[in-house]
Amino acid sequence: MKPLLRLLPFLARYKKTLLWGLLTVVMSNLFTVAQPTLVGRAIDQLKAGLEQHSIDVWGVLGYAGLVVTFSLVAGIFTFLTRQTIIVVSRHVEFDLRNHFLTHIQRLSLSYFQATPTGDLMALATNDISAVRNALGPGIMYPTDTAMTFLMAITVMLYQDWELTLLALVPLPFVSYAVYILGRIVNTKFEERQRQYSELTTRAQENLSGIRVIRAYVREQHEVGLFRSLSWDYLKKNLVLARVQSIMWPLMFLLVGFSLVITLYFGGLRVIHGEITIGTLTAFFGYLVMLIWPMIAFGWVVNILQQGAASMNRLGKILDTEPEIRDMSSTQTSIAAIQGSIEFREVIFRHRNTAHPALDGINLSIPAGTTLAIVGYTGSGKSTLVSLIPRLYDITEGELLIDGVDVRKIPLEVLRSSIGYVPQETFLFSDSIAENISYGARHAAEEDVKRAAEISQISRDIEGFPRGYETVLG
Ligand SMILES: Nc1ncnc2c1ncn2[C@@H]1O[C@H](COP(=O)(O)OP(=O)(O)OP(=O)(O)O)[C@@H](O)[C@H]1O
Ligand SMILES: [Mg+2]
Repeated sequence: MKPLLRLLPFLARYKKTLLWGLLTVVMSNLFTVAQPTLVGRAIDQLKAGLEQHSIDVWGVLGYAGLVVTFSLVAGIFTFLTRQTIIVVSRHVEFDLRNHFLTHIQRLSLSYFQATPTGDLMALATNDISAVRNALGPGIMYPTDTAMTFLMAITVMLYQDWELTLLALVPLPFVSYAVYILGRIVNTKFEERQRQYSELTTRAQENLSGIRVIRAYVREQHEVGLFRSLSWDYLKKNLVLARVQSIMWPLMFLLVGFSLVITLYFGGLRVIHGEITIGTLTAFFGYLVMLIWPMIAFGWVVNILQQGAASMNRLGKILDTEPEIRDMSSTQTSIAAIQGSIEFREVIFRHRNTAHPALDGINLSIPAGTTLAIVGYTGSGKSTLVSLIPRLYDITEGELLIDGVDVRKIPLEVLRSSIGYVPQETFLFSDSIAENISYGARHAAEEDVKRAAEISQISRDIEGFPRGYETVLG
């Protein structure tokens, strides 16, 4: 459960709404728990009336009216509970998802090379939902059921403590069963989530690599692979469902024992005239009321554990510090760059590779000059260039811009001073104009057109019916 504690700061923002939510929980329970006692009184009155051959119809109707009114009021408060606590959980989900994406945006390039995109997608969808579930229902049901439980047990103890204790004997077994099954559910759930990650990774690669798949006629192969991953996911889901489906009948069985015990011992008490038939009826009312908390308990333990497992996965990423970021040594006074670049004995090794991609690079490029770097495929041209905007940090040596260590220049200043045309193009699903001006937020229309002209693509763009406003993707 510990990972869920990280959510406290997120919840703190909605403290007031949550407090209101708790108040509505108390109110709805007060009006619910009063009902079996009312029914019991009505039955006692009915019995007395039958014995004296004069039933007080209005009295009984009065009780019936009260029960209906209490149900209505309790219903209104339950509605308000959902409106507060569940709504808060949706807001936290929203905040958490944004927080997650903001964090991901800060992580270094090398992180994404080591982490499959599908994993991150699974986290941003399935896992965040699981956390939301742990927050909404995970807060609402425990407080609601704990309240029902406390209030019902108090009334029961007050009416007949011996019978209450007898009726509650099967309870610890329920908790134990929930605990054991909950643990199994937890591991099965984790296995399922892992499988889901794999499935999303494959789906994502299938979509982004669709051209390769077509070109090599690998559709059947890919469909087969996906099917087998999907099949494993189905199997994991079925195992999870099987474990969960043992839970419910087991609960009902144990609750059934309670009912039998109450019927036997309570019946004896009624026969001996120790309690009235109305009290016994109320007792049954309360026991039935306890069924839901017992079941909800098992269910809530599950969703809390699932939420905790998911939060744990999310937490691992949220705790990852971006390798490349501004440090205390960053010189925040630097606001602009002149542009002279110098490599001194630079060595660079890609993560998990044995040989350096660049070794002993010495290069001095004065500001305002143009330089072409020519070399064999894989000789390290792209790598060399990507060191300048710090997509990677050099392993050894020095890289200076305007005579300053590149690591001391604020990242934002450094990167926004560099125009970068990547070897592999990527287009966002947005208009052509937006794509061209992606790195230049305040580019005017003429700038966009000029860039298109230089790239010799303006004639094609102007040929489209919607020109620069044509939406891609
Ligand atoms: N992310 C990476 N992880 C590990 N090794 C890498 C990575 N990126 C590139 N390399 C390796 O670094 C070396 C240099 O690659 P780089 O892409 O810089 O070459 P290049 O000169 O730009 O090649 P091309 O002409 O194909 O664009 C290659 O041996 C390549 O396999
Ligand atoms: Mg290259």
